[in-house]
Amino acid sequence: MTSLVGPGGTADGTPSGAVEVPPRILELAREAARVCVLTGAGISAESGIPTFRDAQVGLWERFDPLELATPGAWAADPAQVWAWYAWRATLVRRAQPNPGHLALAGWQARPGVRLGIVTQNVDDLHERAGSEVLAHVHGSLFALRCSVCGRPGGAVYPELDEPVARVDPPPCDTCGGPVRPGVVWFGEALPEDGFLAAVDVAREADLLLVVGTSGLVHPAATIPHLAGVGGVPVVEVNPAPTAVTEAADEVWRATAAAALPALVARLGDVGPRG
Ligand code: APR
Repeated sequence: MTSLVGPGGTADGTPSGAVEVPPRILELAREAARVCVLTGAGISAESGIPTFRDAQVGLWERFDPLELATPGAWAADPAQVWAWYAWRATLVRRAQPNPGHLALAGWQARPGVRLGIVTQNVDDLHERAGSEVLAHVHGSLFALRCSVCGRPGGAVYPELDEPVARVDPPPCDTCGGPVRPGVVWFGEALPEDGFLAAVDVAREADLLLVVGTSGLVHPAATIPHLAGVGGVPVVEVNPAPTAVTEAADEVWRATAAAALPALVARLGDVGPRG
């Protein structure tokens, strides 16, 4: 079984605002009837959601998120971990999908194209932009479940006006155990069906677009490599070099909210092979 492993440390790029579409990337996008888009925290950065590895501010400054997102942290102090996720959930609820999310929804709705979105993000901004997501390979922030019996319950995150240090997680309706976020923590297994479906779609695509991920966290980071060795053209959209770059056939150094709308706007009126 695969599980989430990752080193620390990544540098988030700053938006470049470039909107000229590289000709080869436009050609690949126009010709692709089956597209797979792998997204990471970078696509939500322009919606104001801090990436996992961004410097934490305020109350959480002294905590390493890579240490909070672990089964060990939960076992040691569930109220601290719950408070941290409750604050992240508050930030996500306040955020709106940005032009990058919206452009992918528009592309997915085009006739003659099958576009599968595989995201490492636990937010719901793709869905709120109108996209169907094939796989949330690292789970979903809002898919809460009991940490003891595993059942989904009716619990929700508390509404917070500001970050707080500790909040007791609500009890499970069925067994009374503490309810936890539906995300995959470091060291935990990925939801296997979602990951296998993601690999299949990436390997069968005419184009794999990799947007806003550092490519440091495995096994999701293997997807571009698996697709690439199978002959799928891999295009990276990211303002900064990443571990994906070497597997990419084409690299576009731009932010998601600049690049994706520019690309989708230039796909033209006729679908692939139309
Ligand atoms: N547009 C596109 N990419 C951007 C933008 C932007 N506006 N801003 C930053 N980026 C890029 C950064 O250059 C970086 O490569 O987004 C990437 C963010 O990297 P990470 O923070 O490592 O995010 P991600 O790759 O999604 O992390 C993978 O690690 O923390 C765990 O489980 C968590 O799903 C997460 C996984």
